Amino acid sequence: MSIVQYRGFAGVRLEAEVGGTDDDPAVLLIHGAGQTRAVWAGVADALVQAGRRVISLDMRGHGGSEWPADGRYDVEALVEDLRAVLAQLGSRPMVVAATLGGWIAGAALARDAALLASGLVLIDLPLRVDAAAAAHVDERLHEAGLLAPGQAQWDARLRDAFDPGEMAARFADVAANIMLPTLYVRGAMSELVSPDDAAAFVGSLPDGELVEVEDLALVVTDDCNDALGAHLIDFLERRAPRGMPEYRAGSDARTFRDALGCFATGVTVVTAVCPDGTPVGLTANSFTSVSLDPPLLLVCVANSAGTGAVLCEAERFAVNVLQIGQQPASNRFAGRGEDRFATTPWEIGEFGTPVLHGSLSSFECAREAVHPGGDHFILVGRVLKAIFEPRRDPLLYFRGKYRKLHFA
Ligand SMILES: Cc1cc2nc3c(=O)[nH]c(=O)nc-3n(C[C@H](O)[C@H](O)[C@H](O)COP(=O)(O)O)c2cc1C
Repeated sequence: MSIVQYRGFAGVRLEAEVGGTDDDPAVLLIHGAGQTRAVWAGVADALVQAGRRVISLDMRGHGGSEWPADGRYDVEALVEDLRAVLAQLGSRPMVVAATLGGWIAGAALARDAALLASGLVLIDLPLRVDAAAAAHVDERLHEAGLLAPGQAQWDARLRDAFDPGEMAARFADVAANIMLPTLYVRGAMSELVSPDDAAAFVGSLPDGELVEVEDLALVVTDDCNDALGAHLIDFLERRAPRGMPEYRAGSDARTFRDALGCFATGVTVVTAVCPDGTPVGLTANSFTSVSLDPPLLLVCVANSAGTGAVLCEAERFAVNVLQIGQQPASNRFAGRGEDRFATTPWEIGEFGTPVLHGSLSSFECAREAVHPGGDHFILVGRVLKAIFEPRRDPLLYFRGKYRKLHFA
């Protein structure tokens, strides 16, 4: 994620956090009342992982954006800010906006929507402003005023700057003109928006969809991002699909290797003991389970590997599955020149094979079979004993690089 500055209405400086690559379709995230862009952190990550360019904006008077000296926080200024940012983006994003941000986005997209955006997602947006909704917005904005100067995340002057009732009325007037695929997201436990109001609103939109997020009253808060991310990605995939993937093809060795590299794997170190008692081992990601009964696994070892001859002949061997902290061990057992076992804590296991300390799991095996496999041989082991550690994350390997899990 990097920080990007935009120019808003009357030159006000607006700050956004941007992630993903320029070529990916864009998503502009607009926070709600009493929030900053920080509230989107989990959603932004999930969207970037799903191949989207994410621009997470602080509205004027919020977070890292300018808190203008003239205190202009009227609806007009906020709407024109958003239109200015949309014009500077260079591609038409999906606009995703929460509460107050939804009113602003609706007003901003009432004109020329199709030129500025590819779609709209409105989350937790009060559809009629009764006393409860007005109090909710007021209460959220009021919190800033309670903090010492310098700590506040938004300008306390915002509280007096606009009238939720007026904003909701303005929004109601323009909603029918939003000529964009529009998703309305309601927390199933919401007290601000009734299910009937939500359904009626979506029915009034030219191209509306409704989704309810289970068990939540407010959807956009710091800890609810997983469920929302899944709904957003589903909507984006259907209504703002990514371009056709560009495939590369060929019958050459490089293309074959690169295509194989698309299969994400864990990483193991396969170990055995030489007849003279010296331990040997090499890094291998060609590990596969084979059979449950009998318990069999396999690993493919290059005929050219220095360790190959020992592994081929050894009666017993072990497969150690590496955890996220064992990347140095993976490099050591794939590299040249270093004494692989000198700096790796290990011990001889119950069945006489070298077991690396701290591995995610280790399988002590008896050699079951060795099959030829081109420039590799396929070593099949019968598992004599398995141990594993249930909490740590694995070391992963994908497209020639080490990786870590993104989702727990
Ligand atoms: C992530 C990773 C996975 C690897 N997988 C295998 C494998 O499945 N089979 C293999 O023979 N070599 C594999 N290698 C390469 C060997 O670890 C490497 O060639 C090593 O230096 C062989 O050591 P040796 O010649 O001492 O036996 C892999 C290397 C890395 C980094």
